[in-house]
Amino acid sequence: MPQKRIFLTGGSGDLGRYLCRSLLGMGHTPVVFDLRSPEEASAHSGDNAPDGTGEIEFIRGSITDREDLKTALKNIDVVVHIAAWHGIHEHKQEKDAWQFWDLNVNGTFNVFESARQAGIKDFVFISSTSIDERFGLYGHTKVVGEEIATVYAHRHDMKVITLRPRAFIPPYNTEVYSQFIDWAKWFAKGAVHISDVAQSVIKSIELLIEGEYDFENAPLTLTVDGAYEYSAEDLAAWDSDGPGTTFRKYYGPFYDLAVESGLDPALKPSILDISKTREVLNYRPLYSMKTLLLELKTYGAVGPYARRG
Ligand SMILES: NC(=O)c1ccc[n+]([C@@H]2O[C@H](COP(=O)([O-])OP(=O)(O)OC[C@H]3O[C@@H](n4cnc5c(N)ncnc54)[C@H](O)[C@@H]3O)[C@@H](O)[C@H]2O)c1
Repeated sequence: MPQKRIFLTGGSGDLGRYLCRSLLGMGHTPVVFDLRSPEEASAHSGDNAPDGTGEIEFIRGSITDREDLKTALKNIDVVVHIAAWHGIHEHKQEKDAWQFWDLNVNGTFNVFESARQAGIKDFVFISSTSIDERFGLYGHTKVVGEEIATVYAHRHDMKVITLRPRAFIPPYNTEVYSQFIDWAKWFAKGAVHISDVAQSVIKSIELLIEGEYDFENAPLTLTVDGAYEYSAEDLAAWDSDGPGTTFRKYYGPFYDLAVESGLDPALKPSILDISKTREVLNYRPLYSMKTLLLELKTYGAVGPYARRG
């Protein structure tokens, strides 16, 4: 694949740092545009997560500042627009309506318009399944963000892939999950691992760079969920033989470990339809409940990302 310069707004955050590592491995140059560097972000969360440092280019700037963007968007092949306040900031009431609008709506408009002015056609917009909560602070800004994406795809013939991941805060984000088992309890409800979200972004970039797809002046909008062992039939007849029986069918050897660890085997996960994402991107999520249970068995409640020292 030709080597490209990939511009990542908010590239020092959880998803951006993960992507930097993957992009570097593929020989691309990640150009991180963020208020803080990846190293500062990694030190901030005190983790030993994949940090994506290496041959990245870091540009300190804000998507709310048009001049910053104009200066930074030089010799860029693909924009991946990540920076946003998200669900956790609404949930914890850390950001108000002005802040959500300024970053997620004005910032998104700035990134699209600056990319257009720089002649960039290939664009990945990170939206969210929270568009279903359009009356929420966060959900509303993503609905408007998707509308901006639609207009730029239509009016300016940009190739836009809008990804809608469900929640993917990673297990090593110790600001949100103090240890692996807390994350695991959340993941068990139905979720996607950050590695799979990163896979969907990488496959989107590949499609934009060298894939065959007729965008027809509209964004390609795709839902991103994780991997599940359960079938549609399992979900339809959930625990019809008693609480925990569906879990036991797939994870029998882990049943006692799950209960001792505080996981609820009777919990029925919500699973999203990702058939279009599979078909168009060849997206194949890998991290499932089985992966989680194997990590739990191997590393215990602190998980594989326990702090060093
Ligand atoms: N984390 C989730 O569970 C989840 C789920 C669905 C969708 N999303 C979407 O994914 C994206 C971010 O995910 P993440 O988990 O990597 O978030 P994150 O909070 O870890 O990273 C966001 C990054 O944006 C940067 N940023 C903030 N303001 C900025 C500005 N003005 N200019 C430039 N950079 C700025 C921050 O410094 C940070 O590094 C968002 O678009 C979010 O809506 C997240």
